[in-house]
Amino acid sequence: MYIRNAKPDDLMNMQHCNLLCLPENYQMKYYFYHGLSWPQLSYVAEDDQGRIVGYVLAKMEEESDIAHGHITSLAVKRTNRRLGLAQKLMDQASRAMVECFNARYVSLHVRKSNRAALHLYQNTLKFEISEVEPKYYADGEDAFAMKRDLAEFARQNNIKPSDPTFFDMKKSDKKSNNNHHGE
Ligand SMILES: CC(C)(COP(=O)(O)OP(=O)(O)OC[C@H]1O[C@@H](n2cnc3c(N)ncnc32)[C@H](O)[C@@H]1OP(=O)(O)O)[C@@H](O)C(=O)NCCC(=O)NCCS
Repeated sequence: MYIRNAKPDDLMNMQHCNLLCLPENYQMKYYFYHGLSWPQLSYVAEDDQGRIVGYVLAKMEEESDIAHGHITSLAVKRTNRRLGLAQKLMDQASRAMVECFNARYVSLHVRKSNRAALHLYQNTLKFEISEVEPKYYADGEDAFAMKRDLAEFARQNNIKPSDPTFFDMKKSDKKSNNNHHGE
């Protein structure tokens, strides 16, 4: 099994995987919006035959004072679960958010009833619940809004943000203007 950055060619297979795994589906143009706007942030898991068996679709939140990433969608095909793929996909996306965009944290929403995903986020990836959003989903289910502190993640994993002052900033500091990869 192999984790790699998603290419525009992968986006249709990611949508297919999403349709198999989740009730929250998006039009193809939303995948392209992610893939073209933040090509560094989305990843796929590929099996030995080159088939996409999992993906993470991620973006940066632009309407915020604090630079942070957001996980739009994550799924791994049933036949490939409990192999650590979701954990690896999430860690790769988080790493890229810090390295390319100096993201201070990453956010996401998850259904209150999604025990597998909640377990992954809270126990494995150390996300914390920031709030409950009542009736967030189309069928009326509540969501937990969750956040993962990426400064802590970067420190622990020796990740180098493009902004050298990243580790000096407090969580409340405004976002840096250095949004370019490799500068
Ligand atoms: C949630 C999901 C992405 C997890 O994918 P995965 O590749 O199987 O997860 P991983 O193998 O990386 O799991 C890492 C850890 O998460 C936790 N976890 C994963 N699946 C779990 C489950 N069914 N029950 C309890 N804990 C679970 C475990 O702690 C696991 O570590 P372990 O296997 O060493 O115990 C997958 O179940 C899935 O695609 N579900 C449907 C789509 C979905 O719910 N997406 C998230 C929407 S917010």
